[in-house]
Amino acid sequence: MSASKFRVGIVGARGYVGAELIRLIAAHPRLELAYVGSRELDGQRLDAHIETYRGDLRYTSPSNEVLPTLGADAVVLALPNGKAAACVAAFDAAAADPAFAQPVLIDLSADYRFDDDWYYGLPELTRAAYRGQRRISNPGCYATAMQLAVAPMRDLLSGPVQCFGVSGYSGAGTSPSDKNDPDKLRDNLMPYALTGHVHEREVTRHLCHTIEFMPHVAPHFRGLTITANLHLSAPTTREAVLARYRDAYAGEALVRVLDEAPWVSRIAGRHHVEIGGFALSEDGRRLVVVATEDNLLKGAATQALQNLNLAFGLDEFTGIPSND
Ligand SMILES: NC(=O)c1ccc[n+]([C@@H]2O[C@H](COP(=O)([O-])OP(=O)(O)OC[C@H]3O[C@@H](n4cnc5c(N)ncnc54)[C@H](OP(=O)(O)O)[C@@H]3O)[C@@H](O)[C@H]2O)c1
Repeated sequence: MSASKFRVGIVGARGYVGAELIRLIAAHPRLELAYVGSRELDGQRLDAHIETYRGDLRYTSPSNEVLPTLGADAVVLALPNGKAAACVAAFDAAAADPAFAQPVLIDLSADYRFDDDWYYGLPELTRAAYRGQRRISNPGCYATAMQLAVAPMRDLLSGPVQCFGVSGYSGAGTSPSDKNDPDKLRDNLMPYALTGHVHEREVTRHLCHTIEFMPHVAPHFRGLTITANLHLSAPTTREAVLARYRDAYAGEALVRVLDEAPWVSRIAGRHHVEIGGFALSEDGRRLVVVATEDNLLKGAATQALQNLNLAFGLDEFTGIPSND
């Protein structure tokens, strides 16, 4: 007899991240879709929008108050920043009924990444701190790449780390803006939020080290690259640095340490992060590291799936394609 499946609802399922998550859950051996929420696509068949989905599910647009009654084992909130709290409040209100089984809640926005009551789910760095929490905040896309690129050197850092970032325009979501307007992006590199970006604050908080982040949007659709500039408190060698990264990520299925600097053009559609470059100044005290990642996958949906697997007690990598 096959094992029963955990049922996952997605709120904000029309978006880029929601769509990737639908593809992953539809192919997952132990998960199935309970509902897919979208106001704009309400009533439309899911298979008309997601080519790999086989089934009869249609998009629905339940009110927040109705969400807790829909019986999902987990609910993923794939809404814009600032919109998750109203959904979470509906689950809090439902908890007044002792018979109500709280689903796992995974929030993809930045809304709970600064809240100690939520587990911050960047598994390669935080899985040891997972204690069965039912509320999980999924890290930001750039924040994932920056933390994985800097973490192995944390104890040797001296002063702030500078990160220059470039993302494809899917990072800006589907709501029209300059940052996802192909005409304005053509032949362009668009700087924005050059100080105080939410991912700058997120990484500074979770790495416990000051990061100075300068993001840009490029004309390609998906995939991001960050170049991190690390000042070190003591001189080191390139061999020692490579050994540190290889040790830190030995056995990690979704982190690859390369000798050369990775290229963003090679990461689209793939589920892992690539870290490489490791250029060292002559005095051995300044290190430059490059990391690339598909912002919609390891930067969002794939990471959410790692967190769902963790919350359901499944192998963390169940349902994540191997890339090769
Ligand atoms: N894109 C990325 O690379 C990326 C990476 C990591 C994390 N994230 C985060 O993941 C979340 C989703 O990102 P996304 O890029 O998929 O966004 P998106 O493409 O703009 O989609 C947003 C979704 O939310 C719904 N929505 C929009 N405004 C809403 C509102 N006022 N109230 C309720 N629903 C609303 C939309 O559907 P309807 O309008 O049809 O209801 C849509 O399904 C965001 O918080 C984002 O910051 C994104």
